[in-house]
Amino acid sequence: MTHTSHERLLIIDFGSQVTQLIARRLRELQVYCEIHPFNAVTPEFLDEFKPRAVILSGGPASVIDTGSPRPPAEVFTLGVPVLGICYGQQVMMQMLGGRVERGHGTAEFGRAYVKPEGSLPLLAGWFDGGREQVWMSHGDHVSEIAPGFEVYGTSPNAPYAITADVARRFFAVQFHPEVHHTPNGRALLKNFVTLAGFTGDWTMGAYREHAIEAIRAQVGDKRVICALSGGVDSSVAAILIHEAIGEQLTCVFVDHGLMRKGEADEVVGMFRDAYNLPLIHCQEADRFIGALEGVSDPEVKRKTIGRLFIEVFEEQAKVIGGADFLAQGTLYPDVIESVSFSGGPSVTIKSHHNVGGLPERMNMGLVEPLRELFKDEVRALGRELGLPSHFIGRHPFPGPGLAIRCPGEITREKLEILREADAVYIDQIRKHGLYDEIWQAFVALLPVRTVGVMGDGRSYDYACALRAVTSVDGMTADYYPFTHEFLGETATRIINEVKGINRVTYDITSKPPGTIEWE
Ligand code: XMP
Repeated sequence: MTHTSHERLLIIDFGSQVTQLIARRLRELQVYCEIHPFNAVTPEFLDEFKPRAVILSGGPASVIDTGSPRPPAEVFTLGVPVLGICYGQQVMMQMLGGRVERGHGTAEFGRAYVKPEGSLPLLAGWFDGGREQVWMSHGDHVSEIAPGFEVYGTSPNAPYAITADVARRFFAVQFHPEVHHTPNGRALLKNFVTLAGFTGDWTMGAYREHAIEAIRAQVGDKRVICALSGGVDSSVAAILIHEAIGEQLTCVFVDHGLMRKGEADEVVGMFRDAYNLPLIHCQEADRFIGALEGVSDPEVKRKTIGRLFIEVFEEQAKVIGGADFLAQGTLYPDVIESVSFSGGPSVTIKSHHNVGGLPERMNMGLVEPLRELFKDEVRALGRELGLPSHFIGRHPFPGPGLAIRCPGEITREKLEILREADAVYIDQIRKHGLYDEIWQAFVALLPVRTVGVMGDGRSYDYACALRAVTSVDGMTADYYPFTHEFLGETATRIINEVKGINRVTYDITSKPPGTIEWE
């Protein structure tokens, strides 16, 4: 649990795929909330957390099954408003004396329309057009509502689509107000937090002040070291910490020679010159590329880079005489403990490169001032801290850099070709005004040479793949639907301007089944 002075809303997670969206919608309404798995919410937890309201999420289980997840009964005696969504609605009905039944033609998946019955403050702004589109995804349904509840909305397959016990401020909806396919869902959530008395105290200005105080209290007069990657998260974390403790912070930028064109200069120039941040620039391309040359296994590449990164970082920490804390740009999605119904540990798809393991080895504490934030909030905080918007809006870039965009053996020559092609591609995207619509775009240099004809001669050069995806969090993604004109123009430019490439392809794989990066 994070200790925050803000008004708090508790989201109890029953394992829905979209629980995080509830939190995002609430944060957009300037309400601070945390997601906790149902089995971690004990009466003692509730006592300490002191939520001003509770939301029970959806989930894949069936309340009819024995042993299915439940919130503690104390949730209903706290005296605060409770909103049950989908599974949350059913568990609420079941626990408060109603009944839930299975199927029999009443399952609903996808778009449905709800009609009103009477009026309810929770539904202010709803039903102006007579009915509301909502997103349903349920097999079970409530067959009898709990005592004290009344019906306020029905859909063809959910006679209890919206119910409420107004006196106790308990609300239950069968659909998902948090998803985009419930277009007016935001209004419902806004009404809920308004009636719970939230004042909207979660602003980035307030957060900045609160975070600075917290960093000062944690660090005292000790020293902090930060691995600056040039990405948005570590940059915002570094600037915030610098604002809090000034020269007690030292940033280390490890240039592994796997950066994009001009990137190292841009990062060092900005932080050292514009922000006056104490910054060590380690030029370690030879060490990294030397160790990677000839390596083609993706996991060996990642592990080699991770190991060398820690090596360089430790050396630099020694040079500055050690540090008591390590700063990291960890975000809220990384710390949410999600409910796993499979019971087993999740499979490692790729070993992500970060400075994990270092704090224990070097006996350092962690300073993670972004632990409470979603990515879009980090961007808002970056703007609040005065970072230039072109920097804040930059696409994510992986720690292992171009190494994982160069499948097969890495050579200096290939990296150079890749850097040039990537620069042309990104230039094209910017020129066409598409950069901000795309979550991430890059070139992967393929380990194949193909035959071409250029001028009157034969060419035998590399093929490359362009990748561009839309995504909200990098967990799932779809390929970006460029026009044929754009693709054609970009292919021509890359082949004409980049020596070493004579064929361009476009990757149209979504995630899943693909991943965003090629390795
Ligand atoms: P994948 O390829 O797993 O990538 O679909 C999802 C997002 O994570 C980024 N990524 C990384 N970021 N260290 C990072 O800091 C890594 O090792 C790493 N690997 C992938 C990737 O660029 C995408 O945004």
